[in-house]
Amino acid sequence: MDSIAKPMANLYVSTDAKAALAQSNPIDIYRYHISETLAPITGKPSSEIYERLAWTQTFDKGDLGLPVPALRIQGKKPGELAVDFAEKYPESDLVGKPVANGTFLQFYFKPEPLSRLIIPSILEKKAKYGTNDKLGLKDESEPSSKKKIIVEFSSPNIAKPFHAGHLRSTIIGGFLANLYNAAGWEVTRINYLGDWGRQFGLLANAFEMYGSEEKLERDPIGHLFDIYVEINKVSKPEEDAIKEKKEELQQAEENKEDTAELEKEIAAMEANSVNEKARQYFRKLETGDKGALAIWSRFRNLSIERYEKTYARLNIHFDVYSGESQVEMSRMERAVEQLRTSGLSEDSKGAVIVDLTKSKDKNIKKLGKALVKKTDGSSLYLTRDIGEAVKRYEKYHFDKMLYVVSSQQDMYLAQLFKILELMGNNEVAERCQHVNFGMVLGMSTRRGTVKFLDDILRDVGEHMHEVMKRNEKKYQQVDDPEQTADTLGISAVMVQDMKGKRINDYEFSVERMTSFEGDTGPYLQYAHARLCSITRKANLTPQDLRSADLSLLTESHAINLVRALASWPDVVQNTLKTLEPTTVLTYLFKMTHMLSSSYDVLQVVGSELEVKKARMALYEAARQVLNNGMKLLGLNPVERM
Ligand code: ARG
Repeated sequence: MDSIAKPMANLYVSTDAKAALAQSNPIDIYRYHISETLAPITGKPSSEIYERLAWTQTFDKGDLGLPVPALRIQGKKPGELAVDFAEKYPESDLVGKPVANGTFLQFYFKPEPLSRLIIPSILEKKAKYGTNDKLGLKDESEPSSKKKIIVEFSSPNIAKPFHAGHLRSTIIGGFLANLYNAAGWEVTRINYLGDWGRQFGLLANAFEMYGSEEKLERDPIGHLFDIYVEINKVSKPEEDAIKEKKEELQQAEENKEDTAELEKEIAAMEANSVNEKARQYFRKLETGDKGALAIWSRFRNLSIERYEKTYARLNIHFDVYSGESQVEMSRMERAVEQLRTSGLSEDSKGAVIVDLTKSKDKNIKKLGKALVKKTDGSSLYLTRDIGEAVKRYEKYHFDKMLYVVSSQQDMYLAQLFKILELMGNNEVAERCQHVNFGMVLGMSTRRGTVKFLDDILRDVGEHMHEVMKRNEKKYQQVDDPEQTADTLGISAVMVQDMKGKRINDYEFSVERMTSFEGDTGPYLQYAHARLCSITRKANLTPQDLRSADLSLLTESHAINLVRALASWPDVVQNTLKTLEPTTVLTYLFKMTHMLSSSYDVLQVVGSELEVKKARMALYEAARQVLNNGMKLLGLNPVERM
């Protein structure tokens, strides 16, 4: 802490406050200092100025900028005020005289104190640099007052393919969980499986007909999918034939012919159909038949076991495997009853619906109609979601709950939240947020359809391996090329997914994502591995780095790199507002581009010892920040490749 407090000895910040600020985000010291200095000059409270100080787009515009109009000072033109403030603002040890640029005041940090503040702070905090436990506290002085957040993500459907929507939900959701964790929230990760419904009836029958114990143990997800496809091949033509017969029956009725024979035929077809057996089986499940439930839970457990292995490859775990099956019948009945008594639902041809188009509020009106109970009395996706949300609130008392689900369900989730609110669960509804995302175009593997995440990861990993082999010399030096290719492949998939704004669609291009050029996962990994290699070659001790004379970092490349590293905690904080992984990635790419143009100018090996130590301290700080950023995104930074 000494090295941090020193350059600020004579500033308008109490020592306690300084220490506290530097703990979480060293740049807050600058914010504090500038706003305290500027307050008497502008006649505005420092807290107001503090709020308005923002990072600039490019370093030529300073480090922090203040839009003077935001202070709303009456009487004088903002441009004139800016000039006036700039003149009156005294230079200090930390900050030079500001520059008035139009209505903006631009503040430039002095390089040497900045390096002395930032680099040691990163080297000391390591993985904690950029995190801020305080952000997630209800009461700043009470470390146990953590806010609680539920992140619901991934949520695939058992026996159905793991599609692009699940892939994106997994990647983005994993990232959001890490993000809130870094901000000191208590995070609960929930996977809401599609693990209930008539498909399980079909599946149980399919297993009886085509199943293999051995295959189920070896590859439950693949096997269940295969037999599901198989039984659909039988049930589809059956259903088509029944439909055809029914049309025949209708025709006969219209012609006033004798239909007794036809009716008998149809009844027999239906009774013997795979679909009817599935229905009966599902009814057994819904009424709690032990034998049926045992088979179902086996399928479910084996699938979860497999899911867990794959999620682990992406550094993701779930605290809870929930699912549609986990919402008790009684809860859904309660929901339906509550909807009825609140006058929200109505009967419609034997079914129960909520008709929001009747609302006078046009924001509610546009949400349309929603079905809450089917004619046959069976409950629905929506009803389950209502029950589940209330159940989670009772259990976790969350302050926030994120649903990481594709934008295809925008309307659906808007209905869910609105209905929760209108039926009297406002406390739950106001805490819910849909984090949506666009589609992935053209996701398929070389072997054909995608069944599960493993298929995609294997495919990209293999391609990555081929790309690596193209550089024979380097390939020879990699210890475990297969393992490395696998890790790089996973980074490739994840970075491609998180590179743009969430809402944008993107094209799944194995060629592009596995390239070492451009803003890709392999490029980030390469940047990290290169820093590791410099460290190995420099062969200095941590004590060497700690005692480095940072005033030797005088080149503009070095100074700008330090400025970039200084902004990392703010980038994390800003990401909490955008909830966009691209906020982090854009920063990491900018920083790694700066790094790669620095290597020729700021050489380590071959430099005089003191210079070597200072530059190595800088590179080690950059490696740490890159590593922290990659881990936040869910990537596994490699040390060699
Ligand atoms: N299993 C669903 C699907 O594949 C996604 C679940 C979304 N979450 C929810 N609470 N409805 O479409």
